[in-house]
Amino acid sequence: MIKVCTAHTADMDVDTLATARALLHDVFEGDLSEQDWEHSLGGVNAMVWDGAELIGYGSVVQRRIMHGGRALRTGYVEAVGVRADRRGQGHGAAVMNALERVVHGAYELGALCAADEAGEFYAARGWQLWRGPSSALTPTGVVRTEEEDGALYVLPVTRTVPLDLDGELTCDWREGDVW
Ligand SMILES: CC(C)(COP(=O)(O)OP(=O)(O)OC[C@H]1O[C@@H](n2cnc3c(N)ncnc32)[C@H](O)[C@@H]1OP(=O)(O)O)[C@@H](O)C(=O)NCCC(=O)NCCS
Repeated sequence: MIKVCTAHTADMDVDTLATARALLHDVFEGDLSEQDWEHSLGGVNAMVWDGAELIGYGSVVQRRIMHGGRALRTGYVEAVGVRADRRGQGHGAAVMNALERVVHGAYELGALCAADEAGEFYAARGWQLWRGPSSALTPTGVVRTEEEDGALYVLPVTRTVPLDLDGELTCDWREGDVW
């Protein structure tokens, strides 16, 4: 039986965290760094279980994204993945439904950095491609992140936050991939 659940990282036991990390290791074919995993922790984790098997995962963590002179409370979506043999069955959508509920309920904006082949998956769900220049607020100041231009998507939550998709988008600092 398929079950979709969400849990704050604080409420996940060590075995469940290890299971999620192992799933992501397989989903990203070994290309999941320590920092990638760390980035997915500390917020709300969404999991799709088929019985005792974890077949889908994703998380949303809080970040501050600067735009238009504001530091927006942003739900940043990380580490979305479905086990290779279970793709195309709606489980990715189930993960995103759970994460988007959190974004809509708790944040001013949703944001994510899409893998090359996943952009259309998010766009079809209403996520909007950011067209303007991206940057990060690093310890030494704002630094352009042009390598991420064209991969960033936002999910507008409230009309009180006006977004100019051609404007600049600046993320807060973290180690590893900043976006
Ligand atoms: C991207 C991913 C999570 C999608 O999961 P999934 O379980 O296959 O997706 P679903 O079956 O729920 O598909 C939902 C819809 O999105 C579409 N879709 C799925 N993957 C897509 C993709 N890569 N590009 C465009 N559309 C896609 C499906 O056709 C479906 O459309 P429909 O509702 O019109 O039928 C999955 O392919 C995956 O884990 N990929 C590898 C890891 C990855 O790239 N993660 C994203 C990191 S940013």
